[in-house]
Amino acid sequence: MATSIRSRGGGGGGRITPYKSLFFVSAIAISFFFFAFFVFTSDDADDSTPDLNTGFGSTRRSVLAMKSDPLKQRLDQIKKQAEDHKSLVLAYASYARRSKLESSKLVRVFADLARNYTDLITNYKSLSESDSVSMDESVLRQFEKDVKLRIKDTRQVIADAKESFDRELKIQKLKDTIFAVNEQLTKVKKQGAFSSLIAAKSIPKNLHCLTMKLMEELIANPEKYADEDKSPELEDPSLYHYAIFSDNVIAASVVVNSAVKNSKEPFKHVFHVVTDKMNLGAMKVMFKMRQYNGAHFEVKALEDYTFLNSSYVPVLKQLESANLQKFYFENKLENATKDTSNMKFRNPKYLSMLNHVRFYLPEMYPKLHRILFLDDDIVVQRDLTGLWDIDMDGKVNGAVETCFGSFHRYAQYMNFSHPLIKENFSPKACAWAYGMNFFDLDAWRKEKCTEQYHYWQTLNENRTLWKLGTLPPGLITFYSTTKPLDKTWHVLGLGYNPSISMDEIRNAAVVHFNGNMKPWLDIAIPQFRPLWTKYVDYEMEFVQQCNFGL
Ligand SMILES: *[C@@H]1O[C@H](CO)[C@@H](O)[C@H](O)[C@H]1NC(C)=O
Ligand SMILES: *[C@@H]1O[C@H](CO)[C@@H](O)[C@H](O)[C@H]1NC(C)=O
Ligand SMILES: *[C@@H]1O[C@H](CO)[C@@H](O)[C@H](O)[C@H]1NC(C)=O
Ligand SMILES: *[C@@H]1O[C@H](CO)[C@@H](O)[C@H](O)[C@H]1NC(C)=O
Ligand SMILES: *[C@@H]1O[C@H](CO)[C@@H](O)[C@H](O)[C@H]1NC(C)=O
Repeated sequence: MATSIRSRGGGGGGRITPYKSLFFVSAIAISFFFFAFFVFTSDDADDSTPDLNTGFGSTRRSVLAMKSDPLKQRLDQIKKQAEDHKSLVLAYASYARRSKLESSKLVRVFADLARNYTDLITNYKSLSESDSVSMDESVLRQFEKDVKLRIKDTRQVIADAKESFDRELKIQKLKDTIFAVNEQLTKVKKQGAFSSLIAAKSIPKNLHCLTMKLMEELIANPEKYADEDKSPELEDPSLYHYAIFSDNVIAASVVVNSAVKNSKEPFKHVFHVVTDKMNLGAMKVMFKMRQYNGAHFEVKALEDYTFLNSSYVPVLKQLESANLQKFYFENKLENATKDTSNMKFRNPKYLSMLNHVRFYLPEMYPKLHRILFLDDDIVVQRDLTGLWDIDMDGKVNGAVETCFGSFHRYAQYMNFSHPLIKENFSPKACAWAYGMNFFDLDAWRKEKCTEQYHYWQTLNENRTLWKLGTLPPGLITFYSTTKPLDKTWHVLGLGYNPSISMDEIRNAAVVHFNGNMKPWLDIAIPQFRPLWTKYVDYEMEFVQQCNFGL
């Protein structure tokens, strides 16, 4: 989630090239299409939509097995099935929404289905309220029948959607491939921002495959992934705590994997992973299926933090405002493809709560004194516990600075024509980077940084102070409370700058693939990709099945 820095990565490439190269590329595309069509039609289509039968078969069997058990248990089982299928449908809806090409109808159908599950559960609410003795078995039987009918419908809808998804995946794959070819032809440096933005927005097929397989696993074996009691380590301030906010299962797992593998005492490390509702199931399974040498985990959804609501969080309030919704969501594809800078502003990701949740660390982890924030596009290469030994001088945010010469100064990130900005900040102040930030939560609470952030974010409703992302509000919030860290802690640019020296990378504690050429995409910078794939969990069956890193 390096959105804040992405603006820099994409912007430098050259604004004129996209049109030309697009034209050039379409010529290649036509000749490529025949070849590609061949390749993709013979492509193993099955792993895009995982085999649903295992999931459905076993859930059905387990319902039958429950028949002899008390009614209450049976009710819980049926309800769980309904909830799980609702999650599955939501996951498909999310995928349909993001793949965008022609799936708006599918989004509606899936959303409808999800609502129907909710309605179903609400309609039979009286069942949950009665105890086993007074429970009306005939009503329960009707509930079971209705749920089964819904599941049958769901199965049909998913089967139909599969065809359409496959077609879209082929188109997407074709685009990715064309852009990859384009990249080779024009050399990475000259590549325009446009193509990589398209690719960065799309969900690659293998990631979709993995998410779906993890969801199916959850549905097939719900008992394995039931929530356990909160372990005391999660709140133990004497341990090393990390915060990772991500909607990308493979990226989050690489961050954790690399951090654990390079730590000297894994059992002293605690990872707090927060994702969105759509990815919660998959993320839970991903982290539960593997052992991480005794490291501790917590996987939560944003929605679990109920205080993050629109009456408290300005970004959510702003998202709700009709004006902004229009701005972000009415981007018609034809026009959006004409203007990269515009398209970037319209990407809802730049306002997504998963990005802004970094401003609420002290409230999310009230018992902790310090926490290390990691983006999901980084790889850890060393034991990081040395960070906890750094004297923070009462500062809140430990980060590496990024300025050199006149570049990456505050003037670049905010509107100094605005009197409030001009009065409060120096345009020459050196910017720092998000991605690996060491936060002293006690100092944060003392300096009231969240209030600061709220003040400025509220003022920026009309985007006159800064345009997008979390870096400008971060620079503002931690203006006088940032402690510069040694540059070897965090080396940036692996997602856009192919000329970073290998020595610098080798010495880095953390490397950061900020920029659009993410290591999980086809367009990754080839020489940097192995630094990431090294930590992909290839022993995991699903990862193998979904063709990661090949
Ligand atoms: C949801 O339920 C309504 C009413 O029961 C029904 O008309 C509709 O077809 C259902 N939607 C889907 C997608 O099955
Ligand atoms: C919204 O958050 C505030 C605290 O930030 C809390 O008091 C309130 O109950 C929350 N509202 C809902 C609907 O959860
Ligand atoms: C695209 O932009 C043109 C010119 O600004 C406008 O006339 C047209 O309606 C737009 N198309 C869509 C689908 O918004
Ligand atoms: C943003 O613009 C709207 C309409 O132009 C205005 O009503 C509102 O007060 C502005 N908000 C801020 C924070 O300036
Ligand atoms: C910068 O701030 C000034 C003063 O409020 C405003 O007129 C101008 O439109 C802003 N610039 C941008 C790019 O929003």
